Amino acid sequence: MIQAKQLTKTFGAGESLVRALKEVNLVIEQGEMVSIVGPSGCGKTTLLHILSGIDNPTEGKVYIDGFDLYGAKEKARSAFRLTQMGFVFQSFHLIPVLTALENVALPLIGQGLSTKNANDKARAALKQVSLEDKLNSRPAQLSGGQNQRIAIARAIVSKPTVIWADEPTGSLDSHTSQQIVGLLRHINDTMGTTIVMVTHDLSISKQTDRIIHMENGRIINIDADNNSDLSPSAKLVRE
Ligand SMILES: Nc1ncnc2c1ncn2[C@@H]1O[C@H](COP(=O)(O)OP(=O)(O)OP(=O)(O)O)[C@@H](O)[C@H]1O
Ligand SMILES: [Mg+2]
Repeated sequence: MIQAKQLTKTFGAGESLVRALKEVNLVIEQGEMVSIVGPSGCGKTTLLHILSGIDNPTEGKVYIDGFDLYGAKEKARSAFRLTQMGFVFQSFHLIPVLTALENVALPLIGQGLSTKNANDKARAALKQVSLEDKLNSRPAQLSGGQNQRIAIARAIVSKPTVIWADEPTGSLDSHTSQQIVGLLRHINDTMGTTIVMVTHDLSISKQTDRIIHMENGRIINIDADNNSDLSPSAKLVRE
């Protein structure tokens, strides 16, 4: 479970002070897939960065499965991030000189696994995203959708409890976007990974369990049971 308590974030000072988050409270249950939506500049990325330990809050607390993210030392927080969290970004953040296999194996090597062990796990993760035939391709040789699937393989390779995704379909056409959100949905359904996704795209957010609406640094509304309009058969098709 992810718990945010009274999160506040300010940038700058004096006349250039920006209050990016204002006393945000939020609970996300283990195994949920939620989206965060709202106008540009409302604080979505800031919230995702603070929930995931990338950036410190000015005030407030984040607990993940009881772990006090900002009460912990930097080293413990980094270790927690590396083993418990996966990240997916709009621009993929792959390393251009590495192959698909090497990109996915890298975080495991960072955790101290042997190259062979890391490569075995990376191969399995790339198979889960249907890229088993592109192991030795570099990002520039692949499409945007394929690159995002490598990034998703990298995000799941450590079997994290949560995946954070900031506009994961922002650089993709609508057909490829649907494939990517379908893949994230599948990972959520089959692996039970909590997924928290920022998106501008209504056709993407409506496929998540809940939609968190933000405006001007605050959560203004949460659509619970967003998916309840799907008939049981539609849910099966989705799976
Ligand atoms: N490092 C920073 N320094 C100063 N101001 C920042 C910084 N990061 C974000 N901000 C400001 O905080 C506010 C929230 O930014 P944030 O990036 O969270 O918005 P967003 O909802 O993700 O927008 P978008 O949809 O355009 O990505 C904005 O006013 C932004 O200018
Ligand atoms: Mg953003």
